[in-house]
Amino acid sequence: MATTRTTSPTEAAHHLRRGNLVAFPTETVYGLGADAFRPDAVRRIFEAKGRPADNPLIVHLRRQEQIGQVAARIPPVAQHLLDTFVPGPLTLILPKHDNLPSVVTADLETVGIRVPRLPLAQSFLEACDTPVPAPSANRSGRPSPTSWEAVEHDLGGRIDCILQGGRTDAGVESTVVDCTTDPATVLRPGAVSVESLRRTLGEVQVASSDADAAPRSPGTRHRHYAPSAQVQLVEDPSEAASGDRHAYVGLDAPAHTDALGAVYIEEDVRTYAHDLFHIFRVCDENEVEVIYAQTVSPTGLGRALNDRLRRAAAR
Ligand code: TXA
Ligand code: MG
Repeated sequence: MATTRTTSPTEAAHHLRRGNLVAFPTETVYGLGADAFRPDAVRRIFEAKGRPADNPLIVHLRRQEQIGQVAARIPPVAQHLLDTFVPGPLTLILPKHDNLPSVVTADLETVGIRVPRLPLAQSFLEACDTPVPAPSANRSGRPSPTSWEAVEHDLGGRIDCILQGGRTDAGVESTVVDCTTDPATVLRPGAVSVESLRRTLGEVQVASSDADAAPRSPGTRHRHYAPSAQVQLVEDPSEAASGDRHAYVGLDAPAHTDALGAVYIEEDVRTYAHDLFHIFRVCDENEVEVIYAQTVSPTGLGRALNDRLRRAAAR
């Protein structure tokens, strides 16, 4: 299949309306979308990514008024979060509407919804004029795509269209919050910090990210975000072993920079999160064997960054 590239959100939306798969940018990462009410098209998302069928998709909407098309109701905590953080990098888990095809939610009774903030994503969703389920637009298990080039690398020839935008802003995915529990539960840390959720809601639980615990968010069961290179977490840059095919990424610079194949020093946690998945992909292109990645203080965006680093390092 030929993959069309376009910078036109209306042209991309035409593809989607015809039952095709379209990758599009958001403020977090690129997503791979289909029309929510064409189950065959939604099924093809799973095929194109090699995604396990038990992993539900997040439904993207242009505006909050569309929530009633996919969710049965909006619990009070969810309304509070909508008023404060939406549009933005937050996904709310709500009770599912009966009319929404079950392939979207992997047969769950709940549905994840998100209204992106990126103007190009909004123009695209406006032109689609239908809810758009979309996982990250990478092959399953690979780092999420933060550029259209990364989408093309993973899915070129397997999808119909790529809406070309710039590099994504956040670089880590949305925060997933289950609003059907009391208090609300963070299922996946992401671009909206747990601290800011607590400032809005008061109490918020955080689901265990322990791989052995039965996770509430099906997607967190699977290996994720991983480059082909082996990722080793370090607290101190001196722990990075010297080697031509060794890379280092972190906030603190190692003393032995010359003894490493590549060194990426990040200014702060924000730029680190923004760059991480891109660096993973560059390292793969350069056949790096080991990436030493420095963990950060687990507050704010640091919680999401550490989560992605740990998952990338898990074998
Ligand atoms: O930032 C993002 O969220 C990006 C962009 C494209 O919006 N999307 C994204 O989708 O990261 P994906 O499919 O790669 O990750 C969605 C996560 C998975 O862990 C999935 O299991 C969880 O959200 N999820 C989706 N629907 C759910 C539901 N009904 N209940 C629990 N978890 C759900
Ligand atoms: Mg993903």
